[in-house]
Amino acid sequence: MTKKPSRVCLFDIFPGAQGEEDGNSSTSLPEYCLEAGISGDGCISQVVDEAAIIISTVTDQQNQNVSGSETPCSPDDRESLCSLHHISKILLHISVIVTIAATALSICLLLQYFYHPAVQQACPDFLENCDQSLNCSLGGSANLCPPSRLPSNRTSATEYRSPVLLLTGRSLLQVYSANAGKYYTVCHQGWMPTHGWTVCRELGFDSHTLSSPVPLTATDPTVLEAFAVVNKTIGSSSNIESFLSPVVTCPTQEGVSLQCTDCGRPAGESHRIVGGSPATWGRWPWQVSLRWDGRHVCGGSIISSQWVISAAHCFVLSSFLTVGRWKVHAGSVSLNPATSHSVRNIYYNGQYNSETNDYDVALLKTSQPMRFSETLRPVCLPRTRQQFQTTGNCWISGWGHVSEGGQLSPVLREAKVHLISSHICNQSSHYPGMISSRMLCAGYPDGKVDSCQGDSGGPLVCQEDGLWWQVGIVSWGEGCGRPNRPGVYTNLTVLLDWVYHRLQTDSVIP
Ligand code: ARG
Repeated sequence: MTKKPSRVCLFDIFPGAQGEEDGNSSTSLPEYCLEAGISGDGCISQVVDEAAIIISTVTDQQNQNVSGSETPCSPDDRESLCSLHHISKILLHISVIVTIAATALSICLLLQYFYHPAVQQACPDFLENCDQSLNCSLGGSANLCPPSRLPSNRTSATEYRSPVLLLTGRSLLQVYSANAGKYYTVCHQGWMPTHGWTVCRELGFDSHTLSSPVPLTATDPTVLEAFAVVNKTIGSSSNIESFLSPVVTCPTQEGVSLQCTDCGRPAGESHRIVGGSPATWGRWPWQVSLRWDGRHVCGGSIISSQWVISAAHCFVLSSFLTVGRWKVHAGSVSLNPATSHSVRNIYYNGQYNSETNDYDVALLKTSQPMRFSETLRPVCLPRTRQQFQTTGNCWISGWGHVSEGGQLSPVLREAKVHLISSHICNQSSHYPGMISSRMLCAGYPDGKVDSCQGDSGGPLVCQEDGLWWQVGIVSWGEGCGRPNRPGVYTNLTVLLDWVYHRLQTDSVIP
């Protein structure tokens, strides 16, 4: 678009303002017209935007005027022009007032954003893709979320890559190098407990670590692709990559098995959920009840002293966004008030889809660390690529309805379930095409034993190698306990990167 200087009669631009050809009116214009720079003939000299002229040219005659010739204007025309100008002045005033009001409102919103850091809200991940600007927050409800603190090598909320992998049931440690763009298996040679602490801290854990050597076998080919070894003693600020160097081979043929929590061991080891039975004290010490305004809403499970894992759908209602209204009740099988912990932060997966229930995972950080006991202990997060057998020893637990449309159970209930292959669960007899790779099904062909309303967010655990691993999170199902409509659970094994990513970013000190 170009601009050219021109002398233009304003009637050309506002054809509707043209007066009667032969009308009589006063020859002098009111003062506000003159003030506005309109000469006695109703024309102004200005720089005219060509596009504006094109819009305004209606007749051939008007076209002629636009081309720059001076147009004689009648007194009537001038009157009309002035009233037009008067109206435009009023409009201008209105627009100035509206602009001032909008600016004041924006300043107010900004002040609210910056001066209420104590008010915390559930923070969906999409904020991370938003450059922290207000206009891409969740309809205003998440405006108060703290700005995201992503390490610079994290680019997108949808593509998390954990810097550390703990592979399969042996928890074999692999570390990602952003420069090389691949994972390295860490050799046990030179490995010290302090290295384990650093890795676990970087993953967002603060407690127990146990590192031991494990033989490197070719069960998983990616294990033997690239190796790294400890290269120096670490200071307090070291991160994982800084103390490892790539090596061609791992001389001792031993990797590092790392456990960041003392997880998955019920204290006593002694035993609705629909069709289940009451659970004994300490059998599922990771099970918590999540209370909103004092009422049980969902289950959850403890994964470390300050973190509870649950389902995203428990938090997405806007009234469920306020952290201060939630409490974590832990360490009891009774639904009656137990030891409660307040919540500092709630995160749910930004890809959670409320229509399909895909990516149904959330994390809660408690304000204070929870003290572990016989009845309060963490469950093990599954390991990357860990596989669980359909005939395995898998259990669900919760205070949910004891039958479809029924009531919450006053005591924690448990039930043994079978994992069902997604291939079968996706068939037309079950949930045709509704089971994504982030979901898994568990139950029985003729139903009867199932999780139900109020069990959501709670754990589906399987026992392997003597430990209990959380394989799934209670997510959805059609009714409860119906034949061929098994419970659907969030497949935690494929969402570990998101979990570790959240744990890490929340523990990064700004
Ligand atoms: N969405 C439910 C809840 O919020 C859990 C439903 C589980 N249904 C089932 N048939 N397993 O508590």
